[in-house]
Amino acid sequence: MLKVDNINVYYGQIHALKDISLEVHPDEIVALIGANGAGKTTTLHTISGLLRTKTGSITLMGEDITHIKADKLVSKGLAHVPEGRHVFLQMTVQENLEMGAYTNSAYTKDGILDVFNRFPRLKHRRNQIAGTLSGGEQQMLAMGRALMSQPKLLMLDEPSMGLAPILVQQIFDIITELHKSGTTVLLVEQNAEMALQIADRAYVLESGRIKLSGTGKELASSDEIKKAYLGG
Ligand SMILES: Nc1ncnc2c1ncn2[C@@H]1O[C@H](COP(=O)(O)OP(=O)(O)OP(=O)(O)O)[C@@H](O)[C@H]1O
Ligand SMILES: [Mg+2]
Repeated sequence: MLKVDNINVYYGQIHALKDISLEVHPDEIVALIGANGAGKTTTLHTISGLLRTKTGSITLMGEDITHIKADKLVSKGLAHVPEGRHVFLQMTVQENLEMGAYTNSAYTKDGILDVFNRFPRLKHRRNQIAGTLSGGEQQMLAMGRALMSQPKLLMLDEPSMGLAPILVQQIFDIITELHKSGTTVLLVEQNAEMALQIADRAYVLESGRIKLSGTGKELASSDEIKKAYLGG
C-alpha cells in the first residue's frame, strides 16, 4: 500500500528525518510512535506531499508519489488527518463534511450519511458551528471529513491528543472499526500503549531515525519500549 524508502528531510539546516524507510501493507494498522520532536509529523507531512525528501522515494499502491503535490494525493486514495484537527471552526459540521468531498462531489450525500452512521454524535450536531464542538467531537469531525474522500490509506496524526480517557477509547474503537471495514491506517501516536494494542506492526522513531520496529505485540513486551514509552 505504502512504501517509504530511505527519505531524508530537512528544515533549513535541521536534519529532521534520517534515512527513514517504512512500509504499510494493505489492511494493516501501522503505528509510528516516538517522543516529542522525534519526527512523526514530519514523516506524515512528507508522505502527503507537504514536505519534500532530499533522497529516496515514496510509493503509494505501486505509484511513485515522491514528487506529487498534496492536493493530487487525495484522489489517489490518501487521506491525512493532521495534528490538532484543523476543522473549519466557523462552518457547521455538515459544511465541514461537504468540504471533505470536494474531490468526489457525486458521492457527497451518501458519504455524509456514512459518516453520520459512524459518528452518531456528529449527526445530532450537524448544524452546530464546528468551533463550539468539544475536542473529541472535533477529532471525530476531522476524521469524518477525511473519510469523505473514501481513502484507501488513512493517516492520523495523534488523534487522541488532549482527550479524556473515555474519548481516547472511543477514538481507538473507531479506528479499529474503520480498519475492519477495509481502511488501511498509518497511526501516529504518543499514546504508545494504546497504539501498540491495536497496531499490527509499529515503528519507533527517535531523533529522526527508526530505532525499532516489529509487531505491536513484540514492541509492547520489549523492555526498551516499556522503559521509554510505557512507564516502566
Ligand atoms: N517548520 C519547522 N521548522 C524547523 N524545524 C521544524 C519545523 N517543524 C518541525 N521541526 C523540527 O523537526 C523535528 C521533528 O518535528 P516533528 O513535528 O516531526 O516531531 P513529532 O515527532 O511530530 O513531535 P510531537 O510529538 O511533538 O508532535 C523537531 O526537532 C522539530 O523542532
Ligand atoms: Mg507531531
